[in-house]
Amino acid sequence: MKISKPYLIRSNDLNINDLKLIFDKTDMFLKSGNYSSFDDLKNVPLALAFFENSTRTKISFELAAKRLGANVVSFDYVTSSLSKGETNLDTIRTMEAMGIKIFVIRHKEDGIVEELQSNSNNIIVNAGDGEIDHPTQGLLDSYTLHKHFGTLKGLNLCIVGDILHSRVARSNISLLKKQGVNITICGPKELLPKDKLTEGINVYSNIDEAIENSDVIMLLRVQRERMKSELIKSNEDYHAKFGMNIKRFERKPELVIMHPGPVNYGVELDMEVIKYPNCLIQTQVKYGVYIRMAVLSLLSEYINK
Ligand code: CP
Repeated sequence: MKISKPYLIRSNDLNINDLKLIFDKTDMFLKSGNYSSFDDLKNVPLALAFFENSTRTKISFELAAKRLGANVVSFDYVTSSLSKGETNLDTIRTMEAMGIKIFVIRHKEDGIVEELQSNSNNIIVNAGDGEIDHPTQGLLDSYTLHKHFGTLKGLNLCIVGDILHSRVARSNISLLKKQGVNITICGPKELLPKDKLTEGINVYSNIDEAIENSDVIMLLRVQRERMKSELIKSNEDYHAKFGMNIKRFERKPELVIMHPGPVNYGVELDMEVIKYPNCLIQTQVKYGVYIRMAVLSLLSEYINK
């Protein structure tokens, strides 16, 4: 069975059947362990085209692609010919001429990945674009919740923090809604979007209220690099109203804490919280490799080999 589209650009592109295919395949790869390798992408040229920095997404896609047998090349935007004025599209076309069949693309600009996909006959996977979407992060977050709770239907999940600048929030809202999760949001009003994304979604004004009414708190990083002016008063003020600390966690020890990373310790989260088993940050990272294996494996069925 194939997933419905020969690329992964938008979380919204994925229907419930696609999610089932991806999660079943992820289960299979997870069971196989860390050292097994597969032939799904044997010798297929795949480029990690990251036009913006990344640790988790880039390394996990690299591991995933290599475990599937791909011939992986890594594009380094800092030393590339972008600095000589080459366009994004010519960069992709140049790699296509060299035989690249799959592009895993991260870009700081909204919508560029979509534009590149519409100008390419090869497979494009969005590894995070601007403030719009990060579909494989959304997938690995859903998968982490499935493994922890068994089912997502009726789960109460609050996304806390800088929702305005967050592609992770957008991906999660799209994917979790489809799976029956009751989503709420919480954050300083300056960091809450006033768009279609949050229409009809209940807003908590502080994290204590959010904790009381939620099974899961999904923390988001305060993305200062995307702010044109300072939108929060101070780290201390933010932490007091929206940060997760040990006192808050101990009041509800069954609460599940998630964060896509990277974390600003002392702002979104206190470091002591990460040692608790219900803090799933490292589990999210671990499952990220298997989710990306599943996505690449399913998309490989669209390659003309
Ligand atoms: N969560 C996430 O996308 O992290 P990186 O920016 O390190 O890839």
